[in-house]
Amino acid sequence: MSRATNHHPARLRRSVLCVPADNARALAKVKDLAADAVIFDLEDAVAPERKAEARDALVRHLSENRPGGEAIIRINVAESGFSEADLVAAVAASPDAILLPKVESPADIQGILEWLSENDAPESLRLWAMIETGRGVINAPAIAETGRTFGGRLDCFVVGLNDLRKETGVAALAGRTYLVPWLMQVLIAARGSGLDAIDAVFNDFRDAEGFEAECRQGRDMGYDGKMLIHPAQINAANRCFGIDQAALDEARAIIDAFARPEHAGKGVINLGGRMVERLHLEQALKLAAKAETIEKRKAKS
Ligand code: COA
Ligand code: MG
Repeated sequence: MSRATNHHPARLRRSVLCVPADNARALAKVKDLAADAVIFDLEDAVAPERKAEARDALVRHLSENRPGGEAIIRINVAESGFSEADLVAAVAASPDAILLPKVESPADIQGILEWLSENDAPESLRLWAMIETGRGVINAPAIAETGRTFGGRLDCFVVGLNDLRKETGVAALAGRTYLVPWLMQVLIAARGSGLDAIDAVFNDFRDAEGFEAECRQGRDMGYDGKMLIHPAQINAANRCFGIDQAALDEARAIIDAFARPEHAGKGVINLGGRMVERLHLEQALKLAAKAETIEKRKAKS
């Protein structure tokens, strides 16, 4: 088995917007938004009595419109009684990924993997997992490992702090004081198995300053992007989880340095008084690839 790497270095998941599948006005807006990914929600944003209607609306919508970036469908948990019909609808709508809520153990992933293979889901269909319960956080490393050992469909964790706050009673303090250790546990579990990781939603969508501060915190913790609830949050997330010019300049300097003939075949070099190794070169190449993807995305829009 190969060592874990972030297996999609150039893929953008800076802004992951959630849209309730039964909200026609919101659905209609999606194709014009600059979100890197859209989660069409059949779970908590849809009332139980509207689940069937939401599924139908979603399948219809996705057959006629595709968002610019990735399309993800969030289904309900198995115990809800809704998940089988959700899975049928999700496979029919052919999104890039299905997002499983409240994942607590590898068995939760394996059950879905079996259903997908029995129901001829295409191999390209990915799974994303929400980590949003105490058991989910505690078992995050074992859950993440299923991405490497069971067909590799799992490729992204999304943290759900509203559910974690509800379950644990932890206070909602500024700076997410007592939540940071759990956020870092989820991050290291994701990275240990080569998964992407998306930070949790920020509920107060009118508080732009608070949102930006939380985006910067998520980025500094290593997260790839943030789950969003409102279009007003997209630009700030794209900026904060995008690329800092100074970091890009430095990456290009490292790439140039290793390309010089005098450094051919060297594992480590002196770059202006600083030790730079090939692992830094790999990091620099990833950053440059991401910058290129961002430029291409901008050129398209
Ligand atoms: N995606 C796409 N468009 C959205 C949107 C979203 N997530 N949230 C709001 N909009 C649209 C609205 O439809 C509205 O356009 P309209 O006037 O043409 O209908 C426009 O943006 C402005 O919205 P605003 O009036 O500021 O908010 P609202 O009261 O319509 O909606 C929420 C507020 C919180 C109910 C809504 O943003 C929402 O449902 N967010 C997602 C919630 C969710 O998915 N939760 C589960 C995951 S945590
Ligand atoms: Mg939740």
